[in-house]
Amino acid sequence: MSASSITLSRPAADLAVLTFDLPGKGANVLSPAVLDELSQHLDALEKDAGLAGLIVRSGKPGTFIAGADLREFVASFDAPKEQVVAMCRKGQTLFGRLSKCPFVTVAAIDGICVGGGAELAIWCDRRVMSNNPKTEFGFPEVKLGLFPGWGGTVRAPRIIGLANAVELITGGESVDARAAAALGLADDVCPPEKLLDAAIAMVRAEQVSKQYVRDRAKWSEPIAANETELGFLGATAQAMIQQQTKGQYPAPEAALNLMLESALQDSQAALVREAEGMADLFGSEVNRSLVSLFFLTDRNKKDTGLEGEKAKSTAPRDIRSVAVIGAGIMGAGIAAATLKREIPTAIADANGDALRRGARQAVEEAAYSKSAKGSDPARLLALAPLMALAEDDHAFKNRDLVIEAVVENADVKRALYARVEPLLADSAILASNTSTIPITFLAEKLAHPERFCGIHFFNPVRRMKLVEVIRGKRTSDETIVTAVAYAKKVGKSPIVVNDGPGFLVNRLLFPYMNEALNLVSEGATLEEVDRASKKFGMPMGPITLYDVVGLDTALYAGGVMKKAFPDRITDTPILDAMVKAGRLGQKNGLGFFSYKNKKQRAEPDSAVATLLAPYIKGERKGDKKFSTDELIHRLFLPMLLEATRVLEDGIVRDARDVDLGLIFGLGFPPFKGGLLFWADRVGAAKLIEMLKPYEHLGPRFQPTPLLVEMAKSNKKFYS
Ligand code: NAI
Repeated sequence: MSASSITLSRPAADLAVLTFDLPGKGANVLSPAVLDELSQHLDALEKDAGLAGLIVRSGKPGTFIAGADLREFVASFDAPKEQVVAMCRKGQTLFGRLSKCPFVTVAAIDGICVGGGAELAIWCDRRVMSNNPKTEFGFPEVKLGLFPGWGGTVRAPRIIGLANAVELITGGESVDARAAAALGLADDVCPPEKLLDAAIAMVRAEQVSKQYVRDRAKWSEPIAANETELGFLGATAQAMIQQQTKGQYPAPEAALNLMLESALQDSQAALVREAEGMADLFGSEVNRSLVSLFFLTDRNKKDTGLEGEKAKSTAPRDIRSVAVIGAGIMGAGIAAATLKREIPTAIADANGDALRRGARQAVEEAAYSKSAKGSDPARLLALAPLMALAEDDHAFKNRDLVIEAVVENADVKRALYARVEPLLADSAILASNTSTIPITFLAEKLAHPERFCGIHFFNPVRRMKLVEVIRGKRTSDETIVTAVAYAKKVGKSPIVVNDGPGFLVNRLLFPYMNEALNLVSEGATLEEVDRASKKFGMPMGPITLYDVVGLDTALYAGGVMKKAFPDRITDTPILDAMVKAGRLGQKNGLGFFSYKNKKQRAEPDSAVATLLAPYIKGERKGDKKFSTDELIHRLFLPMLLEATRVLEDGIVRDARDVDLGLIFGLGFPPFKGGLLFWADRVGAAKLIEMLKPYEHLGPRFQPTPLLVEMAKSNKKFYS
């Protein structure tokens, strides 16, 4: 028999405590087996006439219950609708028993309480929460393309009010204990060590007042609201949801409609509707994609950067201090991310003004507080002493990690390393933030190339989660695991990639960016191209992205890519012409669009049309109409083919890193699960068919050997 996940204790004759503590797991999750165990405990407790109260808590510090066991639930993705409805009804009925026991039930919550865990807790009569900073309560189901299906959409509006519940459930964000108390989700907040005592006190108080009995009756009724109130709430919430989801994520809207429709019904009828609505979302494309992304992220959290035995035997070095050389856009961002984690950081720059500006920006950014909408003065004071201005090279001497983020010029970088490397400690790691220069090349003249790698952050550093850790030919395993551990420590999701032009993300970006300009030269309008890309789900179109990245930067990086892959990166005379005309993008207010207006918003510019006219090919000028599908295929199929080449070349260790890299590095639509996940849904044979109309355009549209093989053997990127 397997060890039990829930243990029963009796701190007093009339008190029962159920402690969730899944053996061998870091967090409590709800699998069908755990739910069965809960059911058996309730069978026995409900018959105990001497009980005054039941307390449900966790034996794992920092986690109450982290939700349903997704691995078990995805096994039912293909189940018929009735089975999904039955699954929800079973969960609702089980948790519902917590609101019907012949005694009061109290959830004692310390740590993460989300998803199915939050539903279990909300079915209890009362909730006591610890003020541990790790304590959070929330319904993140919409982030998986679902809504709560074990009674969350029914109980939450009845306990905290419809408007609050709509915000909590459709937004998917968690609240801390203080906010939970303000909402009425937490009935008491106390220090973690007092949690059990507070829960017992709650039982005793309810034993006397019997308020929980009256609340049970109230919460099983319809919600006190009228049609006008519901209409107003619906319209405002709908507008907010539309703004956030752009119509591409159906779950929040489905949750809203469900809660509005069942507000005027009793809770039993509302529960039936909830189960039916959940079944419509469960197993949908968006649900599958978002669950896949959840697994990608989970895998990334556990990835040390190495496999198997090596992963076990290679420990990262501790990074207790960092130096960043180059205080520009990237250097300041990297210093801020490092400082924010309270790691002492020195920053250097050849230009004194740039240094002071960058250092100041880094400290302010590190101390940024969302609620203050600016730097938090206390944080600023705490972090400032950890930041050093490195006005001479001696400042690098005792640093565990030195990250170079100076101009993208190999000679400058190599000259800098020649000066700095001899000063570094024997265990120190030197890394470059280069976006295009091969790491192996940069390492050529180093005395210790094994302690050198790429740590490639994305712009803006504070927002972009991805970091590419780039392994040069001579980079050691220890350097890789240390770089990965550092990137995680500063809150990023690192993927390890092998050296090569454009590494992973820029290599996949360029075929797409290049094709955008090919389309323009064939007569597609700038707006049409951007619109198609956004229709596919990208956060911004490629033309706007050119303006954001900087056209000069794109021209330079495009040159590197063209040199590496001349058969499939085409000439872009358009980009040359734009840069020659001084149109560098948002940075100088003039790119493919103009930003010279009050709000610095993109506006069409007639000067661009004139500038581009000579490059738009002959008879197609202006009158070529591309369908949206055609534009989408032209933009994304070259990106996909490049991804198959990346796999053939062994640039990534696992196909899943391609998807994580694109989602976290480029904003590839999460609801598609990533490029390869999307490609699997389409199927290799179908993709080859989709390429046919464009094959005459050259190798960039011709199926690669890997894709052909996959189509033949009916294989997928994800096993
Ligand atoms: P930037 O031009 O904003 O900053 C570069 C800084 O380096 C300048 O302040 C300059 O004074 C300083 N510098 C130049 N030579 C130096 C030397 N020998 N010693 C000390 N400081 C020196 O450039 P940015 O955009 O921050 O890029 C830096 C690096 O990051 C480049 O390798 C770039 O390819 C890479 N990168 C840039 C991204 C972007 O979107 N801007 C994204 C990812 C990587």
